[in-house]
Amino acid sequence: MAKMILCTDENNGIGYQNTIPWYSSDDFQHFKTSTIDSIVVMGFNTWKSLPKRPLPSRLNVVLVSRPYTERNDTEYGKDCIFLPVDKLKDIIDNNPECIIIGGEWTYRQAKPYITEIIKSTVKGTYNCDTFFDIKKEFPEFLALYSKVLNDGTIVEYYTK
Ligand SMILES: NC(=O)c1ccc[n+]([C@@H]2O[C@H](COP(=O)([O-])OP(=O)(O)OC[C@H]3O[C@@H](n4cnc5c(N)ncnc54)[C@H](OP(=O)(O)O)[C@@H]3O)[C@@H](O)[C@H]2O)c1
Repeated sequence: MAKMILCTDENNGIGYQNTIPWYSSDDFQHFKTSTIDSIVVMGFNTWKSLPKRPLPSRLNVVLVSRPYTERNDTEYGKDCIFLPVDKLKDIIDNNPECIIIGGEWTYRQAKPYITEIIKSTVKGTYNCDTFFDIKKEFPEFLALYSKVLNDGTIVEYYTK
């Protein structure tokens, strides 16, 4: 069973043209604190969107549908593993500390295994082309706890 972390705007937007269309240094710090020293699982689009790859001090697992040998991309480096999505259940079963970090496609692949959600909501709405509405996707989850970061970003912790 796994945890997921996401940050949305007030309209459940999570991305635009393979970037995150806002910058919250407070949420960035929260993301770092929540994921450091863990195994972060992401899709290839999110991997490509990272300003610095791999995310340091975390094992980066990147889910891919095509073998990486078919890609014209050599930016793998250490602390990074590329795996087919059919290995997702094995990764989760064998690594209780892993955290699913997105994007939309990856959250959907991980949905059956998610038991905890860490959701940030930044203030305002942005132009987005990628959305993920946890209230719709996980209607049975309950918010246990929430806090407000300095810039007004709300962080909520959900569980089943
Ligand atoms: N706000 C947040 O918390 C947050 C977090 C993470 C990401 N994001 C944003 O989310 C967006 C990326 O999300 P995403 O859903 O496009 O990508 P993703 O989950 O990061 O990666 C999707 C990857 O899955 C593979 N795939 C296989 N079948 C697929 C299918 N039917 N449809 C889509 N992908 C398939 C593809 O890999 P192959 O190339 O191997 O086919 C694709 O590259 C970006 O804008 C990113 O900035 C936001």
